[in-house]
Amino acid sequence: MDQQWDELLRQDHEVTERVFAAIEANLASASPPPRPQIARLVAFLRDYVDGCHNQKEERVLFPRLQACGMPLEAGPIAVMLDEHERGRVLLAEVVSAGAAYAAGEDAALPGLRTAFHAYAALCKDHFWKEGDILYPMATRILTPADGEDIVRGIEAVEDSLGAGTRARYYALAQEIVDEGRLADLAHGLDRDVLAAILNTLPVELSFIDDQDRVRYFSHEHGAKIFPRSRGAIGTAVQNCHPPKSLHLVNRILDDFKAGARDVAEFWLDMGPRKVHVRYWPVCDRSGRYLGTLETVQDVTGIRRLEGERRLLDAPAVA
Ligand SMILES: [Fe+2]
Ligand SMILES: [Fe+2]
Repeated sequence: MDQQWDELLRQDHEVTERVFAAIEANLASASPPPRPQIARLVAFLRDYVDGCHNQKEERVLFPRLQACGMPLEAGPIAVMLDEHERGRVLLAEVVSAGAAYAAGEDAALPGLRTAFHAYAALCKDHFWKEGDILYPMATRILTPADGEDIVRGIEAVEDSLGAGTRARYYALAQEIVDEGRLADLAHGLDRDVLAAILNTLPVELSFIDDQDRVRYFSHEHGAKIFPRSRGAIGTAVQNCHPPKSLHLVNRILDDFKAGARDVAEFWLDMGPRKVHVRYWPVCDRSGRYLGTLETVQDVTGIRRLEGERRLLDAPAVA
């Protein structure tokens, strides 16, 4: 079996979060979102997120957890089921406003915007709860044989919607992400090139927005000084720090929002390494606070530099 059940479900969450980010960027733009993109969004959310991903949980994972002793009527599964239901109510609004807008009805855009933001916020919070709480809990109580049964159940749900369901909807999600304006980011720099540039910097980056929500981190696929999980995206930064450092986090953010501080820096020893951690307020050209950038850098080698090197050394691949 190639992937574990939780990897399959987490992958659905990640793909959906990428779709959310693309649509959020387009809805925040001054010009209206492309209609074909909204038509695809409606299909993806209705037919895959609710019509397939949620079904994998409701028809396969949750019943198996119930059989292992987790009640359906109370506790985490009851919360998850309730959120699925609340999601469906909001999704119905997204689908109706989205279909109207995609069919040419401009007046449907404000309703779409409101419904989409509410739906995306609920889903992101839900994905975070599942990824960081329910799935780890479930992996502790399920046996390897349970896990294999769940993978087979997930595949059966996908197959019931036709051959290659997952690949088909992941391709649709990619079309949604690629469409629109993200590709024009940074004066002609392709989005993927920009991401690769950021991942090449000798500094790990994390960004939280003006609502203190984690929006981005670099170097996802590689050894990181401070590992981050994609489940953190969309969650409040206060949830990602231990309670004892919360007051410090809030104080830095308050200072940045008030324009009272340009940087907050720390350095610490991690084994033989000296790690430099800095926080920077990020503002637009008018000075409006957009969020906070964290840079994390291993400065051990830099601190050792002496004299000069002006000639090329032998090639080295890190
Ligand atoms: Fe769920
Ligand atoms: Fe889920």
